[in-house]
Amino acid sequence: MKILVVGGGGREHALCYYIAKSPRCEKLYCTQGNAGMAETATMLPIAVNDVDGIVAACKQHKINFVVIGPDAQLEQGLADALNAENIACFGPSRAAAEIEWSKGFMKDLCARAGVDTAAYRRFTDAESARAYVQAQGAPIVVKADGLAAGKGVTVARTIDDAIAAIDAAMVDNAFGASGAEIVVEEFMEGEEVSFFVLCDGKTAKFFTTAQDHKAVFDGDTGPNTGGMGAYSPAPVIDDALRDKIMREIVDPVVAALRDGGRPFRGILYAGLMMTKTGPRVVEFNARFGDPETQIMLPRLKSDILDLLYACATGTLDKTAIEWRDVAALTVVLATKGYPGDYGKGSVIRGIERAEALRDVIVFHAGTKRDAAGELTANGGRVLCVTATAPTIAEAQKRAYEAVDLIDWPEGFCRRDIGWRAVKRAGAA
Ligand code: AMP
Ligand code: GLY
Repeated sequence: MKILVVGGGGREHALCYYIAKSPRCEKLYCTQGNAGMAETATMLPIAVNDVDGIVAACKQHKINFVVIGPDAQLEQGLADALNAENIACFGPSRAAAEIEWSKGFMKDLCARAGVDTAAYRRFTDAESARAYVQAQGAPIVVKADGLAAGKGVTVARTIDDAIAAIDAAMVDNAFGASGAEIVVEEFMEGEEVSFFVLCDGKTAKFFTTAQDHKAVFDGDTGPNTGGMGAYSPAPVIDDALRDKIMREIVDPVVAALRDGGRPFRGILYAGLMMTKTGPRVVEFNARFGDPETQIMLPRLKSDILDLLYACATGTLDKTAIEWRDVAALTVVLATKGYPGDYGKGSVIRGIERAEALRDVIVFHAGTKRDAAGELTANGGRVLCVTATAPTIAEAQKRAYEAVDLIDWPEGFCRRDIGWRAVKRAGAA
């Protein structure tokens, strides 16, 4: 197969890294991306959002399978454009991906399917949203309806914070068109888990679980980011809970999409809150997580390309998903200043030393080679230092040993990735 991976972050580096290992991968291409991807794939000079350019490149290079990483390209309808040209593609149609790109759609779908999620109301005017918040009280959660690069959600501790969030989205247009409509919902308390399921439009198969750390600083403090680290599997999900989540959340949602004429082909990523009354839906994503991909794929024993292709072609029922008996943990190295303003172009050294450690891989996110061939930082999240080991505690130790071999004064990371899982194991 000739394959194209769309997207340019850490998730896409991990996808390229493992797809390239598959015996069925004859030639691997990517859209514009990072320096790590450039080592495993032929980088085409196409912007990630250039749908026509991607379709044209597939024809030119006889690419017969496309793997879509980012959410924005699903909303753009890239899968539809490829399928219209009979090019197989991993990633749902624009209509099926609406479960991610419209929170209001997702909430209505859950309500119709009888799936437990926070009580909510949708609003298209600020006045009624403010009145609702006044009536409900705090804490309460305000969400821009559309995609907002992970910044569209405010967990408001006070009514004033909630009203400020409503005004930011609907009056000041902080998220552009994505905030013209909002969802206001009940605050849920508990431990969060990411739950991943592969789907081919007919069959849905449990993939695995992960937990991430969204806050920028140790102790889960500071502003939210795209994710400062993650580990897999999530110790809080045992087999019984997994089956319950498949039965009560995933299967009804997948069926509701299919029955609504939107069969889901790709990976369904449920964000769940483990509350006192059981698992409840926080959100759905229609794609792989970042940095969750960087810890799920190193655990996988099966050929990832076989699985992705089975999702695209409706043969998932005949394809087994097998795992190595290991845990994985990744620590994100980010440029100082992230998630606020940060500089670009600082030089990073020592990745080879880190990767010389056993069972360590350094996935690139925002990196670029400069004119002299030096590796430089080119984004907020820059590297994902990943280790596998028999336990999460050992993977954590190994990942930080690797982090300490990387020489990059302009970067920083959290020092406590995995604390919840390590504490749980210590208490057991
Ligand atoms: P989302 O983009 O919907 O995943 O929201 C981002 C983050 O906000 C989630 O990972 C949660 O930590 C938090 N969050 C979202 N909705 C709720 C809710 N209803 N109750 C509590 N926290 C929430
Ligand atoms: N790590 C969160 C996400 O990919 O949405």
